[in-house]
Amino acid sequence: MPSSVMPTPRNNSTSSSSSSAGAPAVSTADLRKSYGDKTVLDGIDLRIPAGSVFALLGPNGAGKTTTVEILSTLIAADGGRAQVAGHDVATSPDGVRAAIGVTGQFAALDDMLTAEENLLLMADLLRLGKREGRGRAQELLERFEIADVAKNRAATFSGGMRRRLDLAMTLVGDPKVIFLDEPTTGLDPRSRRTMWDTVRSLVADGVTVFLTTQYLEEADQLADRIAVLDGGRIVAEGTADELKAQIPGSHVRLRFDAIDEFERAAGVFPGAARDDDNLALRVAGETGMDALRALFDRLDAAGVRAADFSVHTPDLDDVFLALTGGGSSTDGTLHVKETLR
Ligand SMILES: Nc1ncnc2c1ncn2[C@@H]1O[C@H](COP(=O)(O)OP(=O)(O)O)[C@@H](O)[C@H]1O
Ligand SMILES: [Mg+2]
Repeated sequence: MPSSVMPTPRNNSTSSSSSSAGAPAVSTADLRKSYGDKTVLDGIDLRIPAGSVFALLGPNGAGKTTTVEILSTLIAADGGRAQVAGHDVATSPDGVRAAIGVTGQFAALDDMLTAEENLLLMADLLRLGKREGRGRAQELLERFEIADVAKNRAATFSGGMRRRLDLAMTLVGDPKVIFLDEPTTGLDPRSRRTMWDTVRSLVADGVTVFLTTQYLEEADQLADRIAVLDGGRIVAEGTADELKAQIPGSHVRLRFDAIDEFERAAGVFPGAARDDDNLALRVAGETGMDALRALFDRLDAAGVRAADFSVHTPDLDDVFLALTGGGSSTDGTLHVKETLR
């Protein structure tokens, strides 16, 4: 699988036909793709405003890379339409290529070249001209904090440095829309944070970022809007807060040692969901101090003691797990993140 798009040299006739004000940077309608009899994308509709960060979130094999490959003209869709920076991917692939930068899931560096040479090679491919190319390379080396290793071969770079250089190469052509396919997969936490800062600085420059990720935290941290891709479809779309609002709210899970205690507690909280196998109750409602105190007062008044309890506040993980069908635990409730014990 190719991990980068060969750059298309800029030329004025393509860049002058770019998107008008207010037009989305990326839009798709009923986008479809199959491999053999396997449907990978089963009708994808997206609309991404210019200057925003969009995260396509999905588990491994969901079709994230396939989507990026279609939008960056590396492969053709089987059906539907897609526009990037005002250009149709099917009828104006050169227009799309001139407007985008793509950083693939696997770095597209030449290991035998130095960081600087990699950037200059890219500038050459874009036919930037010697002086402009050098200036641009220097600027990017500094911006991505790889200037002090500019003369070292890419082969000697750490994972985080490779990703930064890869992203720097994407930016040589000054793209309007950048696709980042799992930009932090495999990076240590510190490099991941550096990459997040870098992505944020891109948006500050007015670039539209389309990123894919398996990490909810990443989508939560970076994206203005998130779409969850599962089973070839967008199963949810919205801001992080909107997505969180789509799933059941907070609850307290109470577990008991004996069946009679469990039954008495169930009488105290008739609205609670029962998990008979585990002698546990799921009491929906607020989980602040006062609410918890009131809850335990009611149990005390009935002379019941819980063996243990956990407080659950929904987060993006729950949204993801609930929507992608991976979240039901044996008790039929959502995956529980215990924040109190
Ligand atoms: N060239 C291909 N030929 C056949 N199947 C493919 C090809 N590329 C991707 N797939 C399949 O399409 C599905 C989605 O892949 P991909 O878009 O890479 O998912 P993701 O990036 O979300 O992990 C997977 O089941 C994958 O095996
Ligand atoms: Mg992928």
